[in-house]
Amino acid sequence: MATSYTLSVIKADVGGFVGHSSIHEDLIDEARERLEIAQDQDLIVDYHVTACGDDLQLIMTHHQGEDNEEIHRLAWETFEACTRVAKRLKLYGAGQDLLADAFSGNVKGMGPGVAEMAFEERRSEPIIIFMADKTSAGAWNLPLYKIFADPFNTAGLVIAPSLHVGFRFEVHDVLERKNILFDTPEEIYDLLVFIGATGRYAVKSVYTKNGEIAAASSTQRLALIAGRYVGKDDPVCVVRCQSQFPAVGEVLEPFTKPHIVEGWMRGSHHGPLMPVPLQQATPSRFDGPPRVIALGFQLSDGHLVGPRDMFDDPGFDEARNLTNIIANHLRCHGPFEPHRLPMDEMEYTTLPQVMEKLKDRWQPLPDLTPA
Ligand code: F6R
Ligand code: MG
Ligand code: MG
Repeated sequence: MATSYTLSVIKADVGGFVGHSSIHEDLIDEARERLEIAQDQDLIVDYHVTACGDDLQLIMTHHQGEDNEEIHRLAWETFEACTRVAKRLKLYGAGQDLLADAFSGNVKGMGPGVAEMAFEERRSEPIIIFMADKTSAGAWNLPLYKIFADPFNTAGLVIAPSLHVGFRFEVHDVLERKNILFDTPEEIYDLLVFIGATGRYAVKSVYTKNGEIAAASSTQRLALIAGRYVGKDDPVCVVRCQSQFPAVGEVLEPFTKPHIVEGWMRGSHHGPLMPVPLQQATPSRFDGPPRVIALGFQLSDGHLVGPRDMFDDPGFDEARNLTNIIANHLRCHGPFEPHRLPMDEMEYTTLPQVMEKLKDRWQPLPDLTPA
């Protein structure tokens, strides 16, 4: 009888080293110590601590299900402990993503990003965890579409009987806080109407047609929670691979074409998402370009066997080169759109303060509407 496990990836930026470019090893050590105790107390089965840019990533397996108060408390208290370390070292932006003073049941809505899924472990359970820095929650829409709905990306959709029926996408409207399901391939045109607007609609999860979870992402938008600019969401996404799901190589393939995401410097620019090995997940040029890492694990009775650093492969060298070419070209535009985000998406950046300062200097022009 297969046992049910929950995989929780909970992340937060609680202090950068140097600036917003990376994380100090002491934060990783502190988080490891905390999760080790939780493992000894049997709250979690296994854990892995890592970082992408300035974001601390807690990867945990357990039996408590999604949205579990004890697991979320563990993550929150771990972030608080790491914040204390960050403050001691005077790291940059210590405690940045902890938007609440005290834990209140669930870290969602309190600053950290969360991707969780509960499932019965298969005979062999390969998973890939994507983690990004200097970008926003909608960054997974395009790759998730390609992985689960694009036959030019995923050969299995055409030639593997187990994938041929297609998948079901759950999409969140992050502004109006509602969700909708789309079946693919039947409804791909309807689906694309929404998920092409990455600032508002985010693919939350993907299921097989008989309801098995295939992928889950974090859709928390920091700016909407805080009501002001407090750094980017820097989202995470978990994808199950092989057999009834796309193969590992099909899951990684969308990242060979660096797509343009919002984020980068001051969370206010469009830039290409660069797939990098862990040691290069240190955005420095113009605080970027935005980065994505992919860590692969095999689950074994809930234990995280791994990770394998999936983008540490010359197969992604061209994507990295292309990212730099696109980045150079976008940088030529300086403060001009489309490098800088359009006005309405700047609402949650530092721009409103400048506009407020100048609002009384604008003088009305004569009305030209015909009498
Ligand atoms: C983007 C990011 C950085 C900062 C920038 C300014 O997500 O974190 O680009 O926005 O370095 O940071 P502050 O305002 O903290 O000096
Ligand atoms: Mg930061
Ligand atoms: Mg970050």
